[in-house]
Amino acid sequence: MTSLDTRPLIASHPRPSRHPAALPSAAPYRPDDFDIAIVGLGYVGLPTALAYHHAGARVLGVEISPARIEAIRAGHVDLLPSDLVRLEETEGDPMFTVTSDAALLRRANAVIVCVPTPVDHHLVPDLTILQSACADVVANAVPGQIIMLTSTSYVGCTEDLLLTPLAERGLIAGENISVAFSPERIDPGNGSIEHEFVPRVVGGATPSCELRAAAVLSRYTASVHRVDSLAAAEMTKLLENTFRAVNIALANEVADICRELGVPVTTVIDAAATKPYGFMPFLPGPGVGGHCIPCDPHYLLWQLKERRVAAPMITQAMNEIAARPARVVERAAHVLSDAGMGVAGTRVLIVGVSYKADVADLRESPALEIIEGLERRGAVVGYLDPLCPQARLSDGRIVETVRDPSGFDPALVIVHTRHHELDLTWIDERHLVLDASYRELAVPRRFTL
Ligand SMILES: NC(=O)c1ccc[n+]([C@@H]2O[C@H](COP(=O)([O-])OP(=O)(O)OC[C@H]3O[C@@H](n4cnc5c(N)ncnc54)[C@H](O)[C@@H]3O)[C@@H](O)[C@H]2O)c1
Repeated sequence: MTSLDTRPLIASHPRPSRHPAALPSAAPYRPDDFDIAIVGLGYVGLPTALAYHHAGARVLGVEISPARIEAIRAGHVDLLPSDLVRLEETEGDPMFTVTSDAALLRRANAVIVCVPTPVDHHLVPDLTILQSACADVVANAVPGQIIMLTSTSYVGCTEDLLLTPLAERGLIAGENISVAFSPERIDPGNGSIEHEFVPRVVGGATPSCELRAAAVLSRYTASVHRVDSLAAAEMTKLLENTFRAVNIALANEVADICRELGVPVTTVIDAAATKPYGFMPFLPGPGVGGHCIPCDPHYLLWQLKERRVAAPMITQAMNEIAARPARVVERAAHVLSDAGMGVAGTRVLIVGVSYKADVADLRESPALEIIEGLERRGAVVGYLDPLCPQARLSDGRIVETVRDPSGFDPALVIVHTRHHELDLTWIDERHLVLDASYRELAVPRRFTL
């Protein structure tokens, strides 16, 4: 890996200018030009950059965060073991460059944007990061490039943030530049299917953009499915994650029904999943986290609100999902109460605080809300998570993982996320266990939500 950090990190990201920059002259490409530039080296961008590098491409990674660049250089990043090996392979390799300097994008043949698209506290899409990244990309675009957006966003986003501003600079899609949208489908922490074998969907601004984008993706991925518009590709991603959200909400509801009826929900789901068609298993849980399910459907709902279009099923699913952590707190209080204990003053240990197994990602993790909800009721709360040594709560407090769970001596253990490396052999009959992960923990005194 080489570094081109020759100027202050912050200075490489000016606010977008209202005055379009002059159109750069036709690509004066040099031999050290980059095949692919990835903007944003996070959970999506870094594995993508490594996949391209592994496929023999000369890769430029543009990353705004100095801390992230440091972490990548030091190898202290949350990646699958196979991607950590690939990261090691970039060491000292001129084919892999990481920089904060967006001006280097001018030297890339293809530019792929992978920056976050979160929602704010009111669940309204926060587009500021994406707008800023796209403004950098547009300001540094050169004729002949292909620019591909992969961040999840609303339908029409690629047109608003790339196509139109590029045209204002005289860069016309299908004529002297290519523009496409290809939703990212990576599943951090899931090593069962390699990134390269997850098919990519792509739509271009014009048929020639679509073809060129498909060729860029085919450089590292085995299968590309082309759709005939940017909007269809954008909507595909929104459908995928809305589908997940609705089905997770349904699985949660079925879990509640099963508990009421005294039927083990996982037995029922496993049995239904033997049907070879018409059923896809989703597991209930303590809520959803990460950067997709809690956020993406809100991009669709937000867009529909402007058009006064209701989407009651999606809205209901998102409400149910959002209420799930509070339900865990309620259920914890019931379990304690049935055992003759109150919440106030009782020691509760949350096991696994990241939003899913085998990743260190705490974004939107239900565990944080559960910790805060229990603390509001006076519980003494600790957590155990070897992947997340620290966690920041919504009031800014930093809390640290318990090292010795037996020493913490919890009356109640809430199993939130089960990392493969988590040792739970210390749980014995002294502990009440609320298994919010529904992973059929074989421990005494286990309760589900
Ligand atoms: N994380 C997932 O599991 C996942 C899966 C599929 C799709 N997605 C989508 O992919 C997109 C990226 O998500 P992520 O999880 O990788 O986010 P992330 O927060 O892990 O990484 C984004 C990176 O972009 C950097 N960045 C922000 N602004 C920048 C700029 N102007 N220039 C250069 N770098 C910049 C950030 O510092 C960060 O390192 C989102 O739209 C998300 O919805 C995420």
